[in-house]
Amino acid sequence: MAILFKADPDDIAAWTRALEALLPEVEIRVWPEIGNPNDIDFCVGWAFPQGSLAKLPNLRGLQSLGAGVDHVFRDSALPPNLPISRIVDPSMTEDMTHWIVLNVLRFHKQDPEYRKLQADGRWHELPAPMWQKRRIGMMGLGELGGHALARLKLFGFPLAGWSRTKKKIDGVETFFGDDGLKPFLNRTDILIVLLPHTPATEDLLNRKRLAWLPKGAYVINAGRGKLIVDEDLVAQLDSGHLGGAALDVFREEPLPASHAFWRHPKVVVTPHVSAPTLAATAAPQIVENYRRALGGRPLLHPVDRDRRY
Ligand code: NAP
Ligand code: GLV
Repeated sequence: MAILFKADPDDIAAWTRALEALLPEVEIRVWPEIGNPNDIDFCVGWAFPQGSLAKLPNLRGLQSLGAGVDHVFRDSALPPNLPISRIVDPSMTEDMTHWIVLNVLRFHKQDPEYRKLQADGRWHELPAPMWQKRRIGMMGLGELGGHALARLKLFGFPLAGWSRTKKKIDGVETFFGDDGLKPFLNRTDILIVLLPHTPATEDLLNRKRLAWLPKGAYVINAGRGKLIVDEDLVAQLDSGHLGGAALDVFREEPLPASHAFWRHPKVVVTPHVSAPTLAATAAPQIVENYRRALGGRPLLHPVDRDRRY
């Protein structure tokens, strides 16, 4: 009996400590030190390499170390009936909400413009924005998007959301599916993207759809980099159609040094830190899933292989 664990080297010590404390009877093996593959009954981690899970004959379950599972589906040899789970952690959800609120208020309160005025040593008052008229739109109404919207409601902004299936949320104008996308973007001044990356969402925000946003709109993306076509976003910022962007996720991570986002005056970059998975809060659900997998019971927070999220 052993768990195979794979994460960023910086995170490994905290995770192995947390898992060993909760599961003292189970050996935690850290990728790539697999040992005898027959011993591994559960994998926990991020981006196991292509074909590696198929080589573990006694594997009973796979736990993504994040809320997103796009990294799981990159493996075309994923064992067909392997149960897959993702992280749903109220602490992570709150973390994401803080990052979203930070950036909504940054743009709403014209912070980029005031920083520039400060850099120029200018005392100058811009026309005051009205929160009553700042229309916020959330793409993705799941665990993260739903919670962030509920918190944003406290600020009084007009709110809307877009999802794959129809939703009814008190105080939120809801849109869904292909037909709902254009009217949703047309009414959105600050767009927040908290969608998963799937075949259906890749490159969703391209030139045509970014143009559906009103002039001066802002884009905040903490979903995945591949939801947005980078060149199209830069073009819309440069043309003045879009007012700014705050980005936490990128097509390639770390964001290459030469990428235009790093130095673009209208882009705020953070290095995929809006809502990390922390051992302190997420380890217990992983341990519970390990026990469920071994007992042949359904995992918590299961991933639907057809939808890919
Ligand atoms: P979730 O609970 O699965 O919610 C996903 C939402 O996206 C659902 O509302 C779903 O619609 C909607 N959706 C999926 N495909 C769609 C499509 N084709 N068209 C329209 N809507 C679609 O996921 P979550 O826990 O909120 O997480 C969302 C994503 O955030 C993750 O997948 C991950 O990529 C990202 N994330 C980033 C960080 C970070 O640090 N930057 C941290 C955690 C997560 P339905 O409700 O109709 O199913
Ligand atoms: C982070 O990006 C996650 O998916 O949890």
